[in-house]
Amino acid sequence: MLKSLRAPPAILVALALVLGSACSRTPESSGATPAAAFPAGSLKADGGSANTAEKRVVGFSQIGAESQWREAETTSMTIEARKRGITLKLADAGGKQENQIQALHSFLTQKVDAVILAPQKAQGFEPVLREFAAAKIPVILVDRGVECDPALYATLIASDFVLEGRRAARWLAENTSGPLRIVELEGTAGSAPAIDRKKGFHEELAKTPRLEVVRSQSAQFNLLQGKEVMEAILRAEKNQVGAVFAHNDDMALGAIQALEAAGLSPGKTIHVVSIDATRPALEAIVAGKLSAAIECNPLLGPAAFDAVAKALRGEKLEKRIVVQDAAFDSKNAASELPNRRY
Ligand code: AHR
Repeated sequence: MLKSLRAPPAILVALALVLGSACSRTPESSGATPAAAFPAGSLKADGGSANTAEKRVVGFSQIGAESQWREAETTSMTIEARKRGITLKLADAGGKQENQIQALHSFLTQKVDAVILAPQKAQGFEPVLREFAAAKIPVILVDRGVECDPALYATLIASDFVLEGRRAARWLAENTSGPLRIVELEGTAGSAPAIDRKKGFHEELAKTPRLEVVRSQSAQFNLLQGKEVMEAILRAEKNQVGAVFAHNDDMALGAIQALEAAGLSPGKTIHVVSIDATRPALEAIVAGKLSAAIECNPLLGPAAFDAVAKALRGEKLEKRIVVQDAAFDSKNAASELPNRRY
């Protein structure tokens, strides 16, 4: 069973992701342009290709600090900019798309050299991206995609969220038996990871009819809301829940608190599966409270600034760069912990 969790050889993953992407609806896997792939482990400490001779100014529009993952992503961008002698203008949108759009307009006014955008939602960014295209300022999308004309951004560097959802469902199918009542804690409504993880999870689940999602509710990728939503669901379901699939670790960790407070045994009688595989999630696996975590690597700084450098040199970029991720459960979480940087 663990075999299915291990990262397959790079070339197969690259091929699978390219092929898998060809029939998917959302920007992460629209497959319009061939995707490049690189293993998460190969995310370089320093791409070394940025033009440090002249002082570049790059704007980074971040969604907010909704999750531990997102804080790790911000840190990765900050460290990488510093390494390359780039001035990074960081705009934290506090979880509001309108703030992100406002920050992007401010980057336009400031005439930054390039922008790195982690878009909160899939829709609503096209008009401002058109303004960047008109100003000839390259936009690098990181971690989430947007629904727009792909000509409006230089590249999208992100994991395959549909695949992540599929892998979570596969773990439950392979590690349980008998009818299973599943609670799904969704990410922010309208965000690419919430849309695509749900899609992948439900598509894969449909192959195993004994697995049934009895409740799906958003908890905004946030630990506290994960706990509160789970508490409400446990009350409504009178604790009759067999498993939890959370669209990220933070919500899973919140759900674990709620399950324990209700006298239930997460990771034992109730499987909890999540996405991200952050350090606290791996620790929860080792503690026997989380069953599995599908990795989504947030250390995108080196790849993002490599893309910035290329775009500023006028080089053509792959429209889609797919981050390769691993997966963890009780069989391999402990050995990964010493290496985990987020
Ligand atoms: O876009 C990536 C997702 O957003 C991560 O899974 C989540 O933790 C984050 O906030």
